Amino acid sequence: MRIDIITVVPEILKSPFEASILKRAIDKGVVEVHLHNLRDYTDKSYNQVDDYQFGGGAGMVLMIEPIDKCISTLKSQREYDEVIYMTPDGKTLNQKMANSLSLLNNVIILCGHYKGVDQRVRDLFVTKEISIGDYVLSGGELGAAVLCDTVIRLIPGVLNNETSALTDTFQDNLLAPPVYTRPAEYKGHKVPDILLSGNFPEIETWREDEAYKRTEQLRPDLLND
Ligand code: ADE
Repeated sequence: MRIDIITVVPEILKSPFEASILKRAIDKGVVEVHLHNLRDYTDKSYNQVDDYQFGGGAGMVLMIEPIDKCISTLKSQREYDEVIYMTPDGKTLNQKMANSLSLLNNVIILCGHYKGVDQRVRDLFVTKEISIGDYVLSGGELGAAVLCDTVIRLIPGVLNNETSALTDTFQDNLLAPPVYTRPAEYKGHKVPDILLSGNFPEIETWREDEAYKRTEQLRPDLLND
């Protein structure tokens, strides 16, 4: 998979890909992530990429021209499955969306900033609009990092058996069951006996029951999805 991220603050997006699972995925060659500074695609003085909105009102808007240039340059080099725009009024990201995005080959992610982008960018170039939650960030960069993390870890070959995504919370619309590690007893608090029994079919049943109980208690909305 190849992900091209268009941003006015590429600095924000460097470190998420320099550690842990995302770095390993890049080192293995399973995914390529390319950052594009929108300011490299403007002819205006001071590398201007934003302007005041027509009709008045506070806040700057990213202009269509540099975004068009950047997206057109990328599209002249390869085909893209989606051009995703990170925005608080997009569809809220969930595990199902992450699962389907992880199957794509080439994706562009456009990060908004200030008041967002000229509406014509959304009308002409964007194929999917994604929010990471009902709150407003200063820009789409942290949202793009969250999106990349949740998608990249699902690409086959990224996680090994120990970190398998199959047992993740949300994978079957269920929260994950409780987990324990050594010691088996801590200050009088014991690990459930079943987990020490060695009876793996029964352990599996216990985990399924606990996952269901936890979901019913904490996120009953997931069971009606
Ligand atoms: N940009 C600003 N707020 C955002 C959000 N909640 N999700 C995605 N992109 C955003």
